[in-house]
Amino acid sequence: MPSETSIFQPPVNISRCSYICNLEEYKKIYLESINEPEKFWSKIAEQFHWETSYNHKSFLSYNFDISKGPIHIKWMEGASTNLCYNLLDRNVKNGHADKIAFYWEGNHPDDYSKGLTYRKLLEEVCRFANVLKTHGIEKGDRVSIYMPMILELPIAMLACARIGAVHSIVFAGFSSDALAERMVDCKAKMLLTADGVWRGEKPLFLKALCDDALYKAEILGHKVNKCIVVSHFKRVSECRQDFQSQNIPWNEDRDFWWHDEMEDKESACYPEWMAAEDPLFMLYTSGSTGKPKGVLHTTAGYLLYAATTFKYVFDYKPNDVFWCTADIGWITGHTYVVYGPLSNGATSVMFEGTPFYPDNDRYWQIIDKYHVNQFYTAPTAIRALMKFGEEPVKKHSLNTLRVLGSVGEPINPEAWMWYYRNIGKEKCSIVDTFWQTETGGHVITPLPGATPLKPGSATLPFFGVEPILLDDGGNEIQGEGEGFLVFSRPWPGIMRTIFNNHPRFESTYFSKFPGYYCTGDGARRDTDGYFWITGRIDDMLNVSGHLMSTAEVEAVLTEHSKVSEAAVVSRPHPIKGESLYCFISPNAGESFDRKMIDDLKKLVRERIGPFAQPDVIQCAPNLPKTRSGKIMRRILRKVATNDRDIGDTSTLADENIVEVLFANRPENI
Ligand code: WTA
Repeated sequence: MPSETSIFQPPVNISRCSYICNLEEYKKIYLESINEPEKFWSKIAEQFHWETSYNHKSFLSYNFDISKGPIHIKWMEGASTNLCYNLLDRNVKNGHADKIAFYWEGNHPDDYSKGLTYRKLLEEVCRFANVLKTHGIEKGDRVSIYMPMILELPIAMLACARIGAVHSIVFAGFSSDALAERMVDCKAKMLLTADGVWRGEKPLFLKALCDDALYKAEILGHKVNKCIVVSHFKRVSECRQDFQSQNIPWNEDRDFWWHDEMEDKESACYPEWMAAEDPLFMLYTSGSTGKPKGVLHTTAGYLLYAATTFKYVFDYKPNDVFWCTADIGWITGHTYVVYGPLSNGATSVMFEGTPFYPDNDRYWQIIDKYHVNQFYTAPTAIRALMKFGEEPVKKHSLNTLRVLGSVGEPINPEAWMWYYRNIGKEKCSIVDTFWQTETGGHVITPLPGATPLKPGSATLPFFGVEPILLDDGGNEIQGEGEGFLVFSRPWPGIMRTIFNNHPRFESTYFSKFPGYYCTGDGARRDTDGYFWITGRIDDMLNVSGHLMSTAEVEAVLTEHSKVSEAAVVSRPHPIKGESLYCFISPNAGESFDRKMIDDLKKLVRERIGPFAQPDVIQCAPNLPKTRSGKIMRRILRKVATNDRDIGDTSTLADENIVEVLFANRPENI
C-alpha cells in the first residue's frame, strides 16, 4: 500500500501518451527554456497570430534590480496581436467552429445546461464588443465585472479583450464596500453584473449589492456611468418550481439589460490590434499593508504563458474535457477557466454551483456527466468533501479522469492521498500547482507524464522559471535548504506592474532582496531538488485558498466605535487551511460581549466579504507588545492554538499579559 512518504511514479498509461514522457525529457526542455528563453518562447509564439510580427532580438528585456533603475519586464516588444482573435477567430479558422468551448452546468441539476461552440462564442463576444463600443468604451478603459459563473462572464472578458478595454473582475462574493473601493481605484467606466444568482439554496441579489457599491463609489469620488445587467436570476428561476420574483432596483439613466443591448448588434467586430505590452486585465489581490493591489497583466506574454502551462501541466489533448472549479473572479479562473483552455481550443466545463448542492457528490456527478479528463480544484474543497467519506464518490465511475490538479494553498499529504486513491483510483497523475495572481500561471508544478510525485510537494519549476531560495541575509541557498522563495528573471506570464502604482509594485516585490522578485512565500528544497511550499512569510493568511492580510482585517475591526486595538493571527483549520483568530481591546469602560462579537463579524462581512469572517474573536484587555510598541504576533499565535510553549517573553513590556490572554480564551473552540 503506498503511503504519504512514498514516491509515486507517473502512471504508465499517462506517460506513454503525454507530451513530456519522462523526467529526462522534462530536464532537457527545461534547460533549453532557461538557457535560451528567446528561442524557447518564440517557437511557442509561432502557433499564434501576430498582426505585426516579433523580432527575435528584442524578444525579452527586463530589469529586476531596483538599484539599476526602474523595474521593467517586456516580452515581444514591437509585436502586435489580439487575445480574443487568438482564442476564438484562430480556432474557428482552424476548423474548430463547431467544437464546444464551454459546457455550462447550472446550480441545480434540473436547471438548464448549455453547450457553447467556438463559432457561437465568437459571435456573442463580437456582439457584446459592439455593445461596449456603443456605450463609449474604448481601448485602455477599465470595465469592472461583478458576475456569477455564467457564460456572459467569459463573453464579457473576451469582448473587452477584443476592443482593448481592460477588465477588472471582482469576485462576486466580495461586499459592496470592497467592490466600490476597487471600482474607484481603477476608475471604472462601466460595471457589468447580473440580477442575481442561486448559490445552493441561497438566492444572492447581485444587482442590489451593485447599486449599493455604485452609490458608495460616487461618495468616494468616482462615478461609474453605466451598468449592464444580465437577467440570469429570472431565466433560471423560470425553469424552477419555486420561482421568486424580485424587485430589481433600477436607474433608468445608468442601467441597461444585457439582452436588450445585444438584440440589434452585429455578430462581427474587427479586433483592436494591441501592442505586446498593452494591458489585458487587472485583478485585485490583498496587500500586506491592507489596500488591495491591482495586479496588471499584459497581452503577449500572458497569452504565451497561459497557453503553454495549460497544455503541459494538464497534458490537454484535443478531444479532452477539462474542468477547473475555480470561480473566474480569482486568477485561477482567469487563466484556467478562460484564457488557457480557449487558447488551446479546448473544451471545458463551467459550473455555477457548489460541491455540496443538492448533494455532496455534485462534483463527481458532473465529472461523469461530461466525461471530464482533467479536474482542477482546491485543497479546501478536497478536505471538505473528504468529510463525507467514500460513499458519495462510489456512486460515480470517474473513469475518464487522467489528471487531478490542486491549487491555492499547500495540500496536506492526507488530502493528497485521499484525492489520489478515491478520486484518481491510483491511476491519475496529481498536479499540485504552485503559483500566484502575480505569476499569471503555474510556476512550480509537476507534469503528469514526467514528474515522480511526492505528496505535499509542488515538485519542480515549469519551463522558463528559475526558483531561488534566499536566507535572511539575502544569500542564495544551494542544494537542500529552506528560505524565501524568489525569482531572478521573468517568465512571460509574470505581472508587469500594480495598476497606477508602479512604486508600490517595486517596493512590494523587489525591495526586500534587490535583484529578485519576492513571492512572499517560504519554501524548502529537498535532496532531489523538489520544492515544498511552507506558506506565507509576511502577514498574510490563506483562508480556503483566499489570500488576505491581517492588516486588512485589523483595519476593519478597529473601525468599530468600541474597539481601541485589534490584532489578527492565523490559526490552522481542518478544512479551511487557516482561519482568522482576532484579539480585540475594547475602549476603556466598554464591555466585551456577545453583541460586540456579532457586530464585529458582521462588519468584516460587510467590508470585505463573507469568506473573511473571523472564526474566533477574543477579548485582549491589552495586546502583548515589545518595549518599542510592536505587537508580538508570535505570542498571539500561541494563544490562538492554546500552545503554552510560548518561548522567550523577556522582550515583552509586560509579561503578565500572557496569562490574561490564555485565561480569556473563549470556551469550546
Ligand atoms: C498560495 C492562487 C502551496 C501561496 C493561484 C501563494 C500555494 C498564494 C499553492 C497565491 C500551492 C497557491 N501550494 N501554496 N500549490 N498555490 N498557494 O494570488 O501562498 O490567490 O503565494 O493565487 O497562494 O494566492 P493567489
